[in-house]
Amino acid sequence: EQDLDILNLPSLEAEAKKIIPTGGFGYIEGGSEDNWTLAENTKAFEHAQIVPKALSDMEDPDLSTSIFGIDLKTPVMMAPTAAQGLAHSRGEAATAEGLAAVGGLMAQSTYSSTSIADTAAAGNGAPQFFQLYMSKDWDFNYSLLDEAKKAGIKAIILTVDATVDGYREADIINNFQFPIPMANLTKFSEGDGKGKGIAEIYASAAQKISGADVKRIADYTDLPVIVKGIESPEDALRAIDAGASGVYVSNHGGRQLNGGPASFDVLPSIARAVNHRVPIIFDSGVRRGSHVFKALASGADLVAFGRPTIYGLALGGAKGVASVYKHINHELEITMQLAGTKTVDDIKSAPLTHFSYND
Ligand code: FNR
Repeated sequence: EQDLDILNLPSLEAEAKKIIPTGGFGYIEGGSEDNWTLAENTKAFEHAQIVPKALSDMEDPDLSTSIFGIDLKTPVMMAPTAAQGLAHSRGEAATAEGLAAVGGLMAQSTYSSTSIADTAAAGNGAPQFFQLYMSKDWDFNYSLLDEAKKAGIKAIILTVDATVDGYREADIINNFQFPIPMANLTKFSEGDGKGKGIAEIYASAAQKISGADVKRIADYTDLPVIVKGIESPEDALRAIDAGASGVYVSNHGGRQLNGGPASFDVLPSIARAVNHRVPIIFDSGVRRGSHVFKALASGADLVAFGRPTIYGLALGGAKGVASVYKHINHELEITMQLAGTKTVDDIKSAPLTHFSYND
């Protein structure tokens, strides 16, 4: 456990690569096919520019915000990511502790290395969401929804963009198999929840998901259901029609449909279609305070990222995770000051320009 001295989030990747075993690192870092969408995700933030505002008569930007009435100290949150035991022996428990220390929102994955209850306990009362991968086995779905509710989870994120795994070449090259159990799955698995046992679980993951499934989950739980993996206005409207209380714009960090657009490029049209009826969470490719700002100014209410947190976890445990959020919050504060935006709401109404710098 250690605080990290961070220059910027992209630089964490090379450091983490030195300490995470090859198979695990490839699984975390990789995208699908030739990683085109993965690369475009971060580049796309160049497609919009922040308008500087110097004569703004302001100081001390305020990062606090809220979602579903839950107060947060920062609009930057942890995306749900699987198997954090690959990065650190304490896995998601350490991530939850780190997020709690900075007042950021933690999202747990179905495929976590630590159980819903243990991760919630490590957060020590800090707000957490739980991400559900729908199974064909509805007992499994209902059981996890019940456990989440019991553990004090505040909302469900239903991920719908992984009806089949993306074609991830790093995992093929490394012959990657999860070396650690997935705590939420062990009781449903014939095996021990790792290695081959996990194949059974994947085999029972739903291959087709419709609005009716979203509705069935929203009807079952009294927690808000946020649908994750939305990349078009049409899907956003389908999700809302089916009872979603939130839309999560994401292309899974370029790990699923390669050849799809950068997530940032589709955010404005989705935000227009949603038209403030439900909150929007955004992720994929976010690495800078300026990226967070641009996403908020394009219609997002919260902005998540995945890989940089996992690298912080690998390098410094809970303290490393906290360092990652302190760093991006610092970059965001500087951006807010220079753009003359005192609050997160001010960012949401800040103008962006769309000059092309291709020549
Ligand atoms: C993910 N992601 C993901 N999403 C989800 O809904 N459930 C999951 O279990 C996982 N697992 C997972 C593992 C790893 C190692 C990564 C990198 C990602 C996707 C995640 O929620 C998020 O959409 C992306 O991580 C965002 O992209 P960046 O910030 O990593 O570029």
